[in-house]
Amino acid sequence: MTDTVMTIAIDGPAAAGKGTLSRLIAEAYGFHHLDTGLTYRATAKALLDRGLPLDDEAVAEKVARELELAGLDRDVLSVHAIGEAASKIAVMPAVRRALVEAQQAFAVRKPGTVLDGRDIGTVVCPDAPVKLYVTASPEVRARRRYDEIVAKGQSADYETIFEDVKKRDERDMGRADSPLKPAVDAHLLDTSEMSIEAAFQVARAFIDAALK
Ligand code: DC
Repeated sequence: MTDTVMTIAIDGPAAAGKGTLSRLIAEAYGFHHLDTGLTYRATAKALLDRGLPLDDEAVAEKVARELELAGLDRDVLSVHAIGEAASKIAVMPAVRRALVEAQQAFAVRKPGTVLDGRDIGTVVCPDAPVKLYVTASPEVRARRRYDEIVAKGQSADYETIFEDVKKRDERDMGRADSPLKPAVDAHLLDTSEMSIEAAFQVARAFIDAALK
């Protein structure tokens, strides 16, 4: 048994399929998985629940530092309004520093970890041996979100979702601190015309090569 921890960094825009892909990888290799978007979402939700402002950096940092990674609940945090609020607090450097520290502590868990988000390969785990940048066209991502909502029996408007996807991209890619972009050594995976299973097979080949 070696002391080396395998870290897999997965980045990409909202609804590109990186969450599903990360979970499949973590399951296949027996690694711990952290969806870092949930850390921004949980911080935003804690602010909203306490009636605190989303634009006070010192307050948001304090709440971010109180976050327990073990208590992140995907079902509660996945609602659209929390995603929007998360994207707003994610522009604050002090919030990012607090959450990045927690994510880096997670990344060294044995025997290995999969972290997915926006800045994993560039900022959180720049030395990760495998980096994937998972993307898809805004139209395909909006369609996937739409289908997900409709499958839950809820109603949705494709045009509204499409506009939201584009707005979220602008905010995530345009912010000054840790904008969403592929690391120079990331493998690009465009899932616009690829099933998640096919994307998983491509990812596996990169990971198996790195594990050798
Ligand atoms: O992946 P998601 O939709 O759960 O992310 C919610 C927001 O959190 C996203 O709009 C930007 C922010 N985020 C980030 O800035 N950095 C990360 N590593 C993950 C998410």
